[in-house]
Amino acid sequence: MPSGDQYDVSRGTVSRETRSQSRQSTGRHGVKHDNDFVSTYAGISPTETPIGAAAHRASQVLHPQSVALPKLSERRVITIANQKGGVGKTTTAVNLASALALQGLTVLVVDLDPQGNASTALGVTHTSGTPSSYEVLIGEVKAKDAIQQSPHSPRLMCIPATIDLAGAEIELVSMVAREGRLKTALSDSALDGLDIDFVMIDCPPSLGLLTVNAMVAAKEVLIPIQCEYYALEGVGQLLRNIQLVQAHLNPALHVSTVILTMYDGRTKLADQVADEVRNHFGDAVLRSVIPRSVKVSEAPGYGMTVLDYDPGSRGAMSYLDAGRELASRSAGTTRSARA
Ligand SMILES: Nc1ncnc2c1ncn2[C@@H]1O[C@H](COP(=O)(O)OP(=O)(O)OP(=O)(O)O)[C@@H](O)[C@H]1O
Ligand SMILES: [Mg+2]
Repeated sequence: MPSGDQYDVSRGTVSRETRSQSRQSTGRHGVKHDNDFVSTYAGISPTETPIGAAAHRASQVLHPQSVALPKLSERRVITIANQKGGVGKTTTAVNLASALALQGLTVLVVDLDPQGNASTALGVTHTSGTPSSYEVLIGEVKAKDAIQQSPHSPRLMCIPATIDLAGAEIELVSMVAREGRLKTALSDSALDGLDIDFVMIDCPPSLGLLTVNAMVAAKEVLIPIQCEYYALEGVGQLLRNIQLVQAHLNPALHVSTVILTMYDGRTKLADQVADEVRNHFGDAVLRSVIPRSVKVSEAPGYGMTVLDYDPGSRGAMSYLDAGRELASRSAGTTRSARA
């Protein structure tokens, strides 16, 4: 990762296309501070030019203090699940986590997918042998000892996933209390003293024991749904699994949140899917919709969330809004989705 490409909250530097504007105006090592940035762009109407709009959005992202979220009285543990692959589970987990951290809350992302995509996006080490969610699940390592801090935010932490997790589904089968191992590992006493507001668990695209562990460890399920054809395909199966876990293992589990991802406003299909999802899930669907955006897909390649990579982009803003909306809802009051 190129060193100058990071967005550092404490220093308030900006990145990429947004930063290139700063570079031209300052000529100071390509680095620009918040106050300079705001004063430079203060006179620009957000709607005047695309660059002006991006600058305006970036300044909002760069000034999270103005939208600091209140600390939670009780930690919220959210499982991000959809057995359909590539719908935006990981992208949503890391960017929502980053958005919440930017707005003052402390977030732990648990990467429970052997692909390790969330670990990559958060810029944490996840080579084989690194203390990870695998060792945590099988009880070899305490959660606290597997936690790494994301280099982009002091309030963003991650338990990474290594390739070792690939064998865990099979290893877990013969273990005692196989469905409740993550819950035990992430108990309040295990995370004592860390002041974590949100735990986000990124699931693999399957409904196996890893996902079941995530559902037992959480009270809330967040389902990302891609605004594409067949969007709701398989969601019935997911909801039936949630009901099974609820009935037998975790009565508190419910679908608290549904988020629409990769929305392309140019297509009628995206609107049709969004309407269908809203009819099905009602109030559980966040009003903030995540647009399809190249910046969102580029960010993980630099070990960053889109909020670090390009804070002025629409993708960054939409995740910032979604994070605010998620935090403003209480964990239990959103309506459970119908199966
Ligand atoms: N809003 C978006 N705009 C553009 N590309 C996106 C967006 N969200 C996700 N993507 C891209 O879509 C692909 C799938 O996203 P992601 O990895 O988050 O899905 P997933 O559900 O976690 O996948 P898997 O099931 O394999 O774990 C990735 O290449 C990601 O960069
Ligand atoms: Mg994923």
